[in-house]
Amino acid sequence: MEKRVRPVGITGIGAYAPERVLSNADLERIVETSDEWIVTRTGIRERRIAGPEETTSTMAVQAARQALEMAGVRPEELDLIVVGTVTPDMVFPATACLVQDALGARRAAAMDISAACPGFLYGLGVASQMVATGLYEKALVIGADTLSRITDYQDRSTCVLFGDAAGAAVLEPVSEGRGILGLELGADGSGRDHLYLPGGGSKHPASHETVEQRLHYVKMNGKEVFKFAVRVMNESTLRVLAQAGLTPADVDLLVPHQANLRIIEAAVERLGIPWEKVVVNLDRYGNTSAAAIPLALTEAWRAGRIRDGDLLLLVSFGAGLVWGAVALRWGR
Ligand code: UT7
Repeated sequence: MEKRVRPVGITGIGAYAPERVLSNADLERIVETSDEWIVTRTGIRERRIAGPEETTSTMAVQAARQALEMAGVRPEELDLIVVGTVTPDMVFPATACLVQDALGARRAAAMDISAACPGFLYGLGVASQMVATGLYEKALVIGADTLSRITDYQDRSTCVLFGDAAGAAVLEPVSEGRGILGLELGADGSGRDHLYLPGGGSKHPASHETVEQRLHYVKMNGKEVFKFAVRVMNESTLRVLAQAGLTPADVDLLVPHQANLRIIEAAVERLGIPWEKVVVNLDRYGNTSAAAIPLALTEAWRAGRIRDGDLLLLVSFGAGLVWGAVALRWGR
């Protein structure tokens, strides 16, 4: 962060989750599982599922409108829209272009980032640097995923985990000492086979066979992702805090990726951050991929858990394998 030209922070946030609830009891009727197994192994009790008319872009627009309103920014003032997603409405154009049109953000450049669950943090990383250099003044970063559309509801080891949602943040220049103080984005592509969706790309283009072989659904080695997650959440958080000359004791609110309560507990224990400073909402939403961080952040904000000047630590991991962490001093 030494090359920072001017400080950049979040001036507005918003989130959207569909109305339909899929409970553990509902899943008991779909696959051989139990509420007891799901709660003790993951902490998840229910998740939200997009309605037939809803897509990643429609959810993203709902979240974006809230973030713009909180920031006091009109859509036509936006210079850039970045959407982190692995479930775009279509292969192309970018979901960000659909969001740009729906919002009427005529001046904004628009692109998607494929960084799985840390997609929102990757978006923050890219967009914040463009605002920091003065290229842009106002950026909208969205994390949105409709994982229910790529979830195999015959695979009990994954279908109990995922839900649909969107979250958004407006980025603008802020006063000295506020905004993003530390940032790390990382990747280890050697772990690509631990979490992936094989079908529909140039390797396995859609065919009757790919459908029959269920290649258009998420495949996951949960145990490997679990180990990676605990390690990287801890190490990345410490590195990002060190960039800002801070330690875990300085963190006012930790907003971790919402994948599994046991992953969060293990990481938090290693970091020595008190539990009351940790945001957890996966019990009600499951793992919403790129939406998880901005959704948790928005809920914490609405609950009055974020005050001006608070140090927030956002940290996530996911398919790639990739990770991201951001240390942020809240306020304008
Ligand atoms: O955004 C990143 C997304 N991914 C993750 O974060 C995933 C990280 N990993 C995890 O969260 C955990 O590994 C899981 C929740 C996916 C699985 O928990 P686990 O404690 O690692 O369980 P396991 O895979 O070792 O499975 C233990 C047993 C197996 O049975 P056997 O072989 O011991 O007889 C599974 O077949 O639990 C069985 N099992 C289930 N049983 C009931 C797996 N899924 C279920 C289920 N209900 N839904």
